[in-house]
Order: sequence, then structure tokens, then C-alpha cells
Amino acid sequence: MLTIDQQTHLALAHTRHALTRQIGRQARGAAWEAFDARLTRHFPALLHELASVYGERPDFLDVLARVLATAWQGWRQRPADLRALDAAREAEPDWFQSERMLGGVCYVDLCAGNLRSLMARIPYFKELGLTYLHLMPPFKCPADRSDGGYAVSSYREVNPALGTIDDLRELAAALRREGISLVLDFIFNHTSDEHDWAVSAIAGDPACQDFYLIFPDRRLPDAYDRTVREIFPDQHPGAFTQLSDGRWIWTTFNSFQWDLNYANPAVFAAMAGEMLAIANLGAEILRMDAVAFIWKQLGTDCENLPQAHALIRAFNAVCRIAAPGLLFKSEAIVHPDQVVKYIAPEECQISYNPLQMALLWNTLATREVNLLQQALEERHALPAGTAWVNYVRSHDDIGWTFADEDAIREGIQGFDHRQFLNRFYVNRFPGSFARGVPFQDNPATGDCRISGTCASLAGLEQGDTHAVARILLLHGVALSTGGIPLIYLGDEVGTLNDPTYLDDPAKASDSRWVHRPRRAEALHAQRSDPATPAGRIYQGLRRMIEQRRSCPAFTGGTLTGFRSRNPGVLGYTRTRLGQQVLVLANFSEFGQHCPAEVFATQPASAFDLLGARQRPLREGLTLAPYELLWLDCSDRPD
Ligand code: GLC
Ligand code: GLC
Repeated sequence: MLTIDQQTHLALAHTRHALTRQIGRQARGAAWEAFDARLTRHFPALLHELASVYGERPDFLDVLARVLATAWQGWRQRPADLRALDAAREAEPDWFQSERMLGGVCYVDLCAGNLRSLMARIPYFKELGLTYLHLMPPFKCPADRSDGGYAVSSYREVNPALGTIDDLRELAAALRREGISLVLDFIFNHTSDEHDWAVSAIAGDPACQDFYLIFPDRRLPDAYDRTVREIFPDQHPGAFTQLSDGRWIWTTFNSFQWDLNYANPAVFAAMAGEMLAIANLGAEILRMDAVAFIWKQLGTDCENLPQAHALIRAFNAVCRIAAPGLLFKSEAIVHPDQVVKYIAPEECQISYNPLQMALLWNTLATREVNLLQQALEERHALPAGTAWVNYVRSHDDIGWTFADEDAIREGIQGFDHRQFLNRFYVNRFPGSFARGVPFQDNPATGDCRISGTCASLAGLEQGDTHAVARILLLHGVALSTGGIPLIYLGDEVGTLNDPTYLDDPAKASDSRWVHRPRRAEALHAQRSDPATPAGRIYQGLRRMIEQRRSCPAFTGGTLTGFRSRNPGVLGYTRTRLGQQVLVLANFSEFGQHCPAEVFATQPASAFDLLGARQRPLREGLTLAPYELLWLDCSDRPD
């Protein structure tokens, strides 16, 4: 019986031999040597992950060889400037933990028209302070049925309305020259029904049919539907869509987004190739779309299964070999226990922080910091080499993804509380300042999520006097808890909901379009004018971004809870390199006092980095409505 090490060694020797035979003379020279060194280092991980999913197959070694051939092609085609970037990233693997990191996200067409004109926005991105730009998927997709680009027809072509693949490559390089990392989606759970694989599947090609999950009748779909969650119930009940020939196909999201069949290893190998092609365009971070859903197993909810993790780690191992500078960002909008399972140096190095996002809005509604304080103290810490992406809202809806177990400890019933939050944010609750729109209201389950821009949800649309302070408070927390803050571009000038999506038949049934407005030039023109809400929001945000950049305490993600003894005031400290910043955030529209005892171990007074003045602490501290303080409490020699 061979040991695991011996088996790994044999498998490596076998696949390396197969690969070098296949690529012949290419297997010489510096490019091969670099590849082979990383192959030797990361092969055990790749083997382990792929074996856990496909190891029982008689053709497993061929599967491995095919994946490695794909990796080699990816590396061979990797441009020199990206190989140089790989080396820089390998030398400084914690680059993304910097206090200078700041993300922005936008749709190419809505922000600038097309990829070429987006270039002209780079000075603005720099003015704001961005070091990371996520462009919504710019790839070829169906004209109308595209889910904002999340139904990809070809990963190798750009949507012609936005430009060409060369435009995208040039934009990536231009951004990189200005210190901005391009983030692109890797939409690997599904393709559009216009992808070549889908078209060939419909035409009867059995190999392509095996790329998807197609069933002759309702027997298995019914069995799966008993345990899976409905993600877009407005589009279709359950997880399946009927094809014109009467068969049923797995569609977790819209009926035109066909889930890929990862039980077929050819899908993994093919998608590894698409992934490296995207990386080689110059993306520095891949946003791993819909990670939770990629593996299905009868009798389960088909989310977060161990094979999904193994496959993502296998994709990651392919990158370590063929595009080592790349990071993965997890998009798992699921139970917080599950969200963290995707976050590891060998899986996804960074991840959306949907819990913090949802609880920021929860706290604005309740004026009670209990759940958010608890989440920061108990669910914020992450393994070394990983980071949160902290955001106030995204292009998607807001779902109340806190854990019922956590809520009950604060005396909060999850189901009832979500009903309250939904009513509050769609303005069906007396006194609410919010103007949101329901998304996927599902009477069968009571589930509902919320659409709306930050400004409309925070009260600006309704004309509430505290709206600007609320917007700054939310961003100020996201900027200071640790990780990469991410701004939905437009929110920095207080863009309101845009109901015109209702006039477009391709968008009308998806309320998320209400919070995806076109760039509002008029608001941007006001950004230096303190007499306007846009100017107050923009200047306030800029001040926070600048302060953050000069505070070593904001590097990395380590945070310690600080109990303010006031139910409306959130507290935490960030400490690093001799600097300690105490953050206090008043989530209510009234002044709130924190008693002297809580500051017993703090200096007699501290400098508020945002208000630029000294705040005495000995008698306690009163915060103004929605006030946010970043108090520098570092020990200083008197
Ligand atoms: C992700 C995207 C979302 C899209 C879905 C299906 O959740 O963020 O916009 O609808 O995946 O691709
Ligand atoms: C995501 C989430 C879901 C979210 C949707 C986008 O992957 O799982 O909760 O609402 O897709 O809207």
C-alpha cells in the first residue's frame, strides 16, 4: 500500500510526463521552469481537491492531465507585465490588507457608456481614492435576458455595446498604472442559454448536454425541489425551467441562466481555461459569483456542500500555478456560519461581508446596536492572509442574513424581525425614513429582500434631515472595521432610486434595477458644494478616506469590541503599530451619552480624527445624533 505522499508523487510524475509529451519543446526554458516549480509546490493541493470530487473515476489521471494542460496554456499566454505583477504579489502577499485599499463598483454602461469612455473616469476614481475597481460583468451576453451581465454567452468576448476584448485589456493596464486593481467576475455557476455549449446542447450534442443538468421529466426536479431554496421565485418556482422540448434544466437564478454540471470534470477543466483567460486580461481579483450553488446533491439544500469548497480550492490551486498574483473574492450571501467557510488563503482570500452589511441597515432601523456589536465581537475575526470586503450595499438586494441563533440571544425572533425590517425598508412602517422596494417577495415562505440606493434607504429621498449623517455613518463604519471597504459608485454623491427601470420590459420584473442608476452628472457637479447633500456626502466621505489612509491602526482586520454602555452607540477599537483608534458610532437621531466608567482605561482626552478636535473623556462623552467618532487613543508621552 502506497502512502499518500508516494501516491501524490506518482500522480505528479505521471501527469507531468503526460504534459511534457503533449507540449514537446515548450517544456524547456524559463517559462517552463517557473511553471514547473510552482506545479511541484501546488500539485499536492490540486490533486487532493480534485481527487475528493473526481478521484473515483477511472479516467481521473486524464482529468488531472487535462487541467494541467489548461494551466500551462494559461501561463504560457500570460503577458509579461502580469507575470511581473505575479512576482510582486508573491513578494508581498498581504498587499490587500493595506489601509490604503478602497474599492468601487459600477456598471460600465451606466457609469461611462463604454470601456473606452470609462478610461476618462480614471482621474475621478483616483480623486475618490480607489485602489480597486469592480466592473460588473462586461462579457458577451444576451441582449435582454442578461441579468445585468450575469448570464455570460462567451467569456472570451466583450459585449459589443461596451467595446472589445482589447479595450478591456487596455483599461486593465491603464487602471494598474494608476494603482487601481481591476476586479472582474468569474461567473462559474452558470452560463447564459446563448453560450455555445448551451446552443450545442439544445442542438443535441451529448457532450454539451452533459455540461448542464437536464432531466427528461419532473421526477428528479420534484425530488430536488423538495429541499432547495427558491432564489428568484418571481422568475420561476423551484430551481428548474422547462425547455421547449419538454425536458427540465437546472436554473438556480433566472430561466436563461443554466447551471453548469460540475459532476462532469470536463466542466471544471473548461471553466479553468475560461478563468485563466479572464485573469490574463489583467484582472487582479476574481469575484467568484454564486459560490454556494455549484454542487448539487439530492436530499440537501444544494448550497455550501463540501464539493463546492473543494472545487473552489482546486480553481485556486490552478491559479497558484498559472496566475499566482490573483486573488479570489467570495460572493456567498448565506448563513454567517457558511460565509466564513469560503474564506481561507487556499480558497477565497477575500469575501463580501454580508452580515455586516445587513446589520448596518438593521441598526439604522432599530437604533439598537446589539446585533451589530455582537457580530463584530464574535464573527469579524478571520484567518491570517484573508480579509473582508465591507460594503454598505451592492448591485444586489439586501437580504437579512443574520443568524437566528445570534438574534435570539438578544431577545430577537428572526422571522418576525425580518418581517419588521422588510416593512421598515419598503416604507410600510409608520415613521420610516426609508424608500426601498421589495425584491422577490415570496408569500409562500414570507421571504423578501430589499432594493434601494443607499441614499433612498437612508432617508434622502424622503427629505429626512438626518439622511446625510446616516449615509456617512454607514460608510464610516464600513471604512473602519477592517478589510477592504467597497463603495457602490453613485452612493458617494447620494444618488437616489431610479424607478425608470419599470419602463424597460427587460428590467421591469427585477427591482434591483431601482438601485442601479446611470451616473448622475448633476450630482457629481455638486460634489464640492457643501450647500448640497451631494457635496456634504462626498466631502464627508473624502475626509474619512483620507484619514483612514494615514492611520496604521486601520491596516488589516483585527478589531476589539468596546462596550459603550449605551444601547444606541456601537464601539470598537483598532490597534496596530502603536496606534489605537476607538470608533464610536451613534445610530440614533438623539444625542447619546456614554458614561465615564467605559473610558476608565483610556486617556483623559482623545483626538477625534474626523472632527479634528480634542474630546475629553473623563466625564464621559455625549455623541450628537448619528455622530461617528474616530478617537485616536494612542499612548502618547505628555
Ligand atoms: C450573483 C450576482 C447577482 C446575480 C446572481 C446570478 O448573486 O451578484 O447579481 O443575479 O449571482 O448570477
Ligand atoms: C445571491 C444570493 C441571493 C441573492 C442573489 C442576488 O447569490 O444567494 O440571496 O439575493 O444571489 O440577488
